[in-house]
Amino acid sequence: MFQNDSRVLVTGGVGFLGSHLCDRLIESGRDVLCVDNFYTGNKANVAGLLNHPRFELMRHDVTFPLYVEVDRIFNLACPASPVHYQSDPVQTTKTSVHGAINMLGLAKRVHARILQASTSEVYGDPEIHPQVEGYWGRVNPVGIRSCYDEGKRCAETLFFDYWRQHQLEIKVMRIFNTYGPRMHPNDGRVVSNFIVQALRGEAITIYGDGTQTRSFCYVDDLVEGMLRLMDSPSEFTGPVNIGNPGEFTMLQLAETVLKLVGGTSKIVFQPLP
Ligand SMILES: NC(=O)c1ccc[n+]([C@@H]2O[C@H](COP(=O)([O-])OP(=O)(O)OC[C@H]3O[C@@H](n4cnc5c(N)ncnc54)[C@H](O)[C@@H]3O)[C@@H](O)[C@H]2O)c1
Repeated sequence: MFQNDSRVLVTGGVGFLGSHLCDRLIESGRDVLCVDNFYTGNKANVAGLLNHPRFELMRHDVTFPLYVEVDRIFNLACPASPVHYQSDPVQTTKTSVHGAINMLGLAKRVHARILQASTSEVYGDPEIHPQVEGYWGRVNPVGIRSCYDEGKRCAETLFFDYWRQHQLEIKVMRIFNTYGPRMHPNDGRVVSNFIVQALRGEAITIYGDGTQTRSFCYVDDLVEGMLRLMDSPSEFTGPVNIGNPGEFTMLQLAETVLKLVGGTSKIVFQPLP
């Protein structure tokens, strides 16, 4: 249990991961201030919390300063899937960079501990597998994914400079692929693609021969990791990778989805784009 832990701010709190985090924080007795600009988040994700006396929802864009009194900050605000973060790349970078500056400024003012939801994408197109936290990554600074990758890298830099320069209590977690209820059905990622195709009775499309592997972490495990990291000793900053070490082939994933959804979908193979 955190020490001064009663008032918790979750930015991006109506999104996929943020809403599950809000559920867990409310269950464990905290006061939760959920801040979101509803860019990709859906209010329905927190519908069950709206009437809770310890839950407050505020429409706010983290690229603008925020003045509230809180003890802990989970900074999750940022579109997470390529289809979303590439639709307004300038805003994506602003959300990561200005958002980090504003939330770190808030943490400094109110002496709050702050956790950054970073990403495995900070490793870019990596030369080593699996990627350990000490690996610096291989990121293209000028490509169409850079708004997300470089935005998150710059946010990490800001977190560590606030730690070194202002002795802020920071935690940086690098999140790997996560799945579970409330993920966006049209986010273009493989888990949602396969499930939506199976539910519609359409063919499940595998690009390549299906032997390529990925790892997927269930959202409850991810949230547990997030809470444990926030609660870790003050000298522990991370960055720390959080995900599932077990890998699955795309064919195994497609077969699992088919088994669980049922229906008549066939698996079809297409050339890699
Ligand atoms: N889901 C994953 O597999 C994954 C993997 C790596 C990292 N992450 C990180 O975790 C965090 C949450 O991801 P998610 O999957 O829940 O995505 P999501 O899109 O469901 O949630 C992001 C939330 O942030 C809000 N938001 C976006 N820009 C904002 C702004 N400027 N001000 C206020 N709110 C804003 C959105 O409306 C949304 O509710 C993100 O920072 C993402 O980069 C997620």
